[in-house]
Amino acid sequence: MKLQTIFIPVAVLVAIAWRNPYFIGVLRPTALPEAFYSDGDWKTHCTVIKSPADGVPKFEYCEDAIFWDQLSVAGELTNRLIIISCDPGRKSWNTVMGPLREPEPHGGLWLYQPASVNSESEPSPILFEGYPKGHDFHPLGLDITHSRDGSPSDLFVVNHARARSYIEQFVLDPAEPTVAKWVRTVASTYLVAPNGIALTSPTSFYVSNDHLMTRRLPKPLGSILPMMETLLSLPTTWISHITLDESTHSKAEPAFTIDHSFAALGLSFANGIALSPNGRTLAIASSSMMQVHLYDRNPTTNALAFAHTVHVPFAPDNLSYDDEGTLFAAGHPHFPSVIAIAKGQAGAVAPSWVVSISPRVAVHSEATVNLKEYDTRAPVSASAKVPAVLSHVVETTFQSNGTMFGTSTTGLRDSTTGVQYVVGLYDQGMLICKP
Ligand SMILES: *[C@@H]1O[C@H](CO)[C@@H](O)[C@H](O)[C@H]1NC(C)=O
Ligand SMILES: *[C@@H]1O[C@H](CO)[C@@H](O)[C@H](O)[C@H]1NC(C)=O
Repeated sequence: MKLQTIFIPVAVLVAIAWRNPYFIGVLRPTALPEAFYSDGDWKTHCTVIKSPADGVPKFEYCEDAIFWDQLSVAGELTNRLIIISCDPGRKSWNTVMGPLREPEPHGGLWLYQPASVNSESEPSPILFEGYPKGHDFHPLGLDITHSRDGSPSDLFVVNHARARSYIEQFVLDPAEPTVAKWVRTVASTYLVAPNGIALTSPTSFYVSNDHLMTRRLPKPLGSILPMMETLLSLPTTWISHITLDESTHSKAEPAFTIDHSFAALGLSFANGIALSPNGRTLAIASSSMMQVHLYDRNPTTNALAFAHTVHVPFAPDNLSYDDEGTLFAAGHPHFPSVIAIAKGQAGAVAPSWVVSISPRVAVHSEATVNLKEYDTRAPVSASAKVPAVLSHVVETTFQSNGTMFGTSTTGLRDSTTGVQYVVGLYDQGMLICKP
């Protein structure tokens, strides 16, 4: 055996361990259960809703899911729908993990109306109106404004198109919820590898950039540099805040200006982001560091100030807040199996893990908090992978070795019903667990 066949992997492992000592936890397989749900027996409490067998397009390979809330004039929640971004072509077009083989067919958006407690409804594809011909659509993160008193909502979706990545803006009217009217494509040199979006107003948002070096770089750099950036957890990614300003333009010329500012720099693989219900905290998933960073947000200036870091037992993908301000993180507990699926290995599955993250009720000192033993109900405790922190409590809400539901990317909880929804990057449909 040549020396470099041993030396190179060892050098890479040493470098990884130096950046993130827990990374080994997502490189090694873990014996997760077929499934675990924190609020009941998964066999009777969880179901996966799928598109009809012959349905086209297919409801699969979904990355993101968000609530679309409809409020009364008084601001009370009257209806809560779910919008899901899916891309059945992900195995031939994935700008984050590769490959970049074929950007056809396009991905799409879906609308799901939670039915009554006992029956499940089917998701409906959202049709686009006015979408430019020949403009690819490969959705990733998305966010939407509430609808108040039946008013239309503004929807923003990250789009990993053929030549580069954009953000698409649509309008969605509750009167016709399965038709998204295309408004415009937002392009900017700052959108290098946009991933998650969190709206701060109907015309402004935070957006994460997950890599500085992307798969779009010329060969062979495109397959080497992004992987090195991920594995070495290089702090080369960031969060932008973007405001679309139409005021400087006349009605006759419906152009807009982009005001950009860097909201957070020096992050490693910044992935999903979520804004707390009170607008005062922005949570950012750092996939390669297996951490979630919490930033205090100034609601007037949108400036962020670092506040806390919480460890999670997987490479976190996306984040969401429920109405009560509990944060949910979903992600990948075994990185090599996600790569195996991305590479198209037949029969490959990858596990799922979702945790809730909530502030500790009282401020404790290290002496009174058991940082080693926590998350005690899950078959595989988060404590087997990462230490606890003083500021927040981490608890498993869903776990699967990939057989029941795999490649979790987003976990949502509806506080009004307690129902949890999980979508999977390379799985079919959407998992629904009811307490
Ligand atoms: C998941 O666990 C179940 C039950 O133990 C087992 O039958 C299945 O083969 C496991 N799947 C994987 C991918 O390990
Ligand atoms: C993650 O979810 C939030 C809402 O919970 C959404 O705004 C964001 O775009 C999502 N990001 C990704 C990468 O899916």
